[in-house]
Amino acid sequence: MLEKAKHLLQPSTRGAVPPFMVMDVVAAAARLEAQGRRIIHMEVGQPAAGAPASAIAAAQTALSSAVLGYTETLGIASLRRRIGRAYGEWHGLDLDPARIVVTTGSSAGFILAFLAAFEAGDRVALALPGYPPYRHILAALGCEAVPIETSAATRWSISSGALIASHRAGTLKGLVVASPANPTGTMMAPSALADLIRCAEDAGIIVVSDEIYHGLDYAFTAECAARISPNVVVVNSFSKYFCMAGWRIGWMVVPPPLVRAVERLQQNLAISVPTLSQIAAEAAFAGRSELETVRRGYEENRRILLNRLPRAGLDSFLPADGAFYLYADVSRFSPDSFAFAKRMLEEAGVATTPGVDFDPVRGRNFLRLCYAGAHEEMREAIERIGDWLKQGAF
Ligand SMILES: Cc1ncc(COP(=O)(O)O)c(C=O)c1O
Repeated sequence: MLEKAKHLLQPSTRGAVPPFMVMDVVAAAARLEAQGRRIIHMEVGQPAAGAPASAIAAAQTALSSAVLGYTETLGIASLRRRIGRAYGEWHGLDLDPARIVVTTGSSAGFILAFLAAFEAGDRVALALPGYPPYRHILAALGCEAVPIETSAATRWSISSGALIASHRAGTLKGLVVASPANPTGTMMAPSALADLIRCAEDAGIIVVSDEIYHGLDYAFTAECAARISPNVVVVNSFSKYFCMAGWRIGWMVVPPPLVRAVERLQQNLAISVPTLSQIAAEAAFAGRSELETVRRGYEENRRILLNRLPRAGLDSFLPADGAFYLYADVSRFSPDSFAFAKRMLEEAGVATTPGVDFDPVRGRNFLRLCYAGAHEEMREAIERIGDWLKQGAF
């Protein structure tokens, strides 16, 4: 009987999503560290700094004094109001807090957005290179991810022309955009984003805008899609600018007709978002000056890397406008960035992410370097990479 039941335990086809390969790099780096090697970590995309002191203090107080039961499914009302107010401060936007939904990181925001807006079988466009979970979450939900390859000609973003060409080839129901984007760090000019959103809406395509790297923009100010249209589903997070990745808290700005659907979904999928994290997140808004110091640190790291990496041998990057990533073309050293990253880790002790995670084909030519660490680590990484490349093994 037990033997027979074992045969039933085949993973479902929709559960068979590809792995996130960066985690293989993390495991390899950990093995080297266990052997006593010092590794510079530029592989995982998360802030090196912790949550602001105001958030920690609020969490400590809540731990010793609050019951920490469930909250309202859409989130604690004062947090939703505070997030709504932030849109006024950041973007001059008067947002009804009834449209704000607190989520378990932006990761849960995508699941809610895709479930609320799309049917199984719907086709949803997204950029390549791009953040892999968009594709994999859509696949797990029975939707079809439709990759649109981007290039320097459109500044590595989906253009209105490319969207419409894809829509003509097969009707699209949705579009995911991200500016700044992961892995490239590239941003869309406000006018390009506005054109794309208007074009999508004219064609009946629902837009989901991933704004998780807002606040970390250096080249120009990132445009908020909610300023362009009230029909865009905006997904955001406390993981990056607010340095609260492990607290697993984010939010969405939901078009009014979808709010109740998102609420019903979250009621059933999660009941509510961790209460301690919601309390800390609200208090994190008071940590602005601390967070701005962290942000200036990224800006300085970006300056250091863009100035010195070319002298060390890496000299071709996509426009590094924001977030904390450089997407470097390493094709002149190797046709296989996975093998290149593996050797860089083992021989130079610098962990990076091969581009194949973000673009299965052209990613073989690219490496993603995360610059969210300390300035000294950036300087040391540049030296190590330079010395290693000079050894001329490639
Ligand atoms: C572009 C992008 N979107 C979404 C996420 C998910 O982040 P979280 O679930 O922590 O909000 C990440 C994480 O790295 C990301 O890079």
